Amino acid sequence: MAFKPADKIQDLQYFGEYGGVNPSISDSSTYTFLSAKTMFDTFEGNAEGCYLYSRHSTPSNLYLGQALAAMEGTETANVAATGMGAITPAILQLCKAGEHIVSSRTIYGGTYAFLKNFAPRLNIETSFVDITKLDEVEAAITKNTKILYCETVSNPLLEIADIEALSKIAKKHNLQLMVDNTFSPLSISPAKLGADVVLHSLTKFINGSSDTMGGVACGSQEFIDSLRNVNDGANMLLGPAMDSLRASSILKNLRTLHIRIKQHSTNALFLAEKFEKDGLRTVYPGLKSHSGHELFKKMMNKEYGFGGMLTVDVGSLDKANELMELMQERNLGYLAVSLGFYKTLFSAPGSSTSSEISEEEQKEMGLSDGLIRFSIGLDNDIERTYTMMRECMVEVGVL
Ligand SMILES: Cc1ncc(COP(=O)(O)O)c(C=O)c1O
Repeated sequence: MAFKPADKIQDLQYFGEYGGVNPSISDSSTYTFLSAKTMFDTFEGNAEGCYLYSRHSTPSNLYLGQALAAMEGTETANVAATGMGAITPAILQLCKAGEHIVSSRTIYGGTYAFLKNFAPRLNIETSFVDITKLDEVEAAITKNTKILYCETVSNPLLEIADIEALSKIAKKHNLQLMVDNTFSPLSISPAKLGADVVLHSLTKFINGSSDTMGGVACGSQEFIDSLRNVNDGANMLLGPAMDSLRASSILKNLRTLHIRIKQHSTNALFLAEKFEKDGLRTVYPGLKSHSGHELFKKMMNKEYGFGGMLTVDVGSLDKANELMELMQERNLGYLAVSLGFYKTLFSAPGSSTSSEISEEEQKEMGLSDGLIRFSIGLDNDIERTYTMMRECMVEVGVL
């Protein structure tokens, strides 16, 4: 039967302390115990329903974690203060010094920089591969490999990873498949396709109001418990804990995610089709011309569409900058990094979110200077938006 992530979220009922329709916010960093024995058991991880200290977990964070686990179809989840605060501890929990990671080369610049520049300081090496070439992925695996890492829809090139096929490779070689699903919440459910750990930057679509940061790792109870272990849990010891006030606000925004994703997807598909017809080099997984279109269709939860992200290549960085400045002036969106906001956001990833990747490597992976990444907003009249964007494109000479 089809997996229905929005129904899973809808079915979760949480009441507040006084019968409130939202769960109460746990406004405490530490918690009292009625007996010393219970405190000891909690430290040992054996006291269900007891809270210890807010770096470990809080009622508000657990509510949000449960909701995200329900959305992704995993046993449980652990929220963190940022996406990177979820990603880096999850990687470090699964990989020790001397071990190895095989990662897609087209991933968020921060994750790439962590694997390329930071993890080697801990003697963890990464081989970067073209994730769409499964033979290349398998060939990069060594006897020390522990993790296969990718993004469902990659940032910023929007390449689609074949999660089922990658999961088979991971199982064959006893690796953990970690998938960052930030670009495709609800649309694709990686755990249902065999991913072991599903990661998100909640900062993006899931929160959707560009007012806070957040991250989550969704996975098995055993893995999530290990992240929180007081003796050797990466989240507990590195300390990227989310604040309860933020967890409660993200949970409220999660309740409307399905409506927002449908609108982001409808608008992005409309613009991508128009831009492509106008002759612009447009990349959007919903277009038939996209090399991962059929694969996305095969993996997707149909009703949510192909997501809100698209790219257009306007030839040069100068043209890209000129166009983005003009679009901002006309109030069509903001020249800003990040994604998943009600308003359209655009940036040139080569010189911003992927600037951690060297120019030479950018060229090799097909990330050109003139590429503009759009996170399409929730505009009610997307035809009007298109007409105005087209005018800007004509004015700067892109069309
Ligand atoms: C795909 C992806 N993963 C992870 C991150 C990192 O998340 P955060 O900025 O919340 O730490 C980002 C941020 O841009 C992203 O785009």
